[in-house]
Amino acid sequence: MQDLLEKALEAGNYIRTHIPDVPDTVVILGSGLGKLADEIRDAIEIPYADIPNFKTSTVKGHDNKLIYGTIYGKKILAMKGRYHFYEGYSMQEAAFPIRVFALLGIRNLIVSNAAGGINKKFKVGDLMLITDHIKLCAESPLRGENEEVFGTRFPNMTDAYPVEFRNLAKSVASNLKMELQEGVYAFMAGPQYETTAEIKMLATIGADAVGMSTVPEVIAAVHSGMNVLGISCITDMTGSGQQVSHEEVMKAAGEAEGRFVRLVMEIINQL
Ligand code: HPA
Repeated sequence: MQDLLEKALEAGNYIRTHIPDVPDTVVILGSGLGKLADEIRDAIEIPYADIPNFKTSTVKGHDNKLIYGTIYGKKILAMKGRYHFYEGYSMQEAAFPIRVFALLGIRNLIVSNAAGGINKKFKVGDLMLITDHIKLCAESPLRGENEEVFGTRFPNMTDAYPVEFRNLAKSVASNLKMELQEGVYAFMAGPQYETTAEIKMLATIGADAVGMSTVPEVIAAVHSGMNVLGISCITDMTGSGQQVSHEEVMKAAGEAEGRFVRLVMEIINQL
């Protein structure tokens, strides 16, 4: 079996030969939040299927391609479609693209997702800046032999979402007169949505929102010293007892998408 580094190098070499430059920032576009990709100038698309060792996401609404180009002159790589643990991928596989991006020398990660709102002050359609995360379940994406090229054996996670990046997002939102919530994102393995008791537990331990993605990628990004900014779109108020469905999640994300795109474009502009 090829090891992780070899696989990541192979994928990275393929991507490198298809893009003219090292992107400044990679943006992972969550469920229903893919339209940012339409704003990328001089776009070069690379289907995941063509990249050695990349998998394809099986989730509806995920396109399975990388898009390279510029936004306000900044070199951007967008990931349209991501891998989730609940699809059957390991946490290491879910974080694999980040390993590749780290080897390519990409310094910034903007990660987005659709999430259930737990904090009762939130409402459907809110955008939430992720201040921190909680991972209760599933193994770490860093489990197994540590590859020092990526990072240290026991990486620190106390500052996973650096305050400078968050402050920038807050000032951009305020200039755009856009409301931006803040809170802690809890990772749950899914694919079933949470029980009422689980939501109560998550609220008790300090979670403001819950979802089934993002955390594997963020752990790998922090391992490799990338700067991370996370934005959740609150697609349902599971914390208020709302029944959740994938259709509602996609609909709510679609309605918030315009605001999400404006916010992220302006953050990229000011990076
Ligand atoms: N729970 C978990 N994941 C989600 C939710 C939720 O309520 N909404 C969107 N993704």
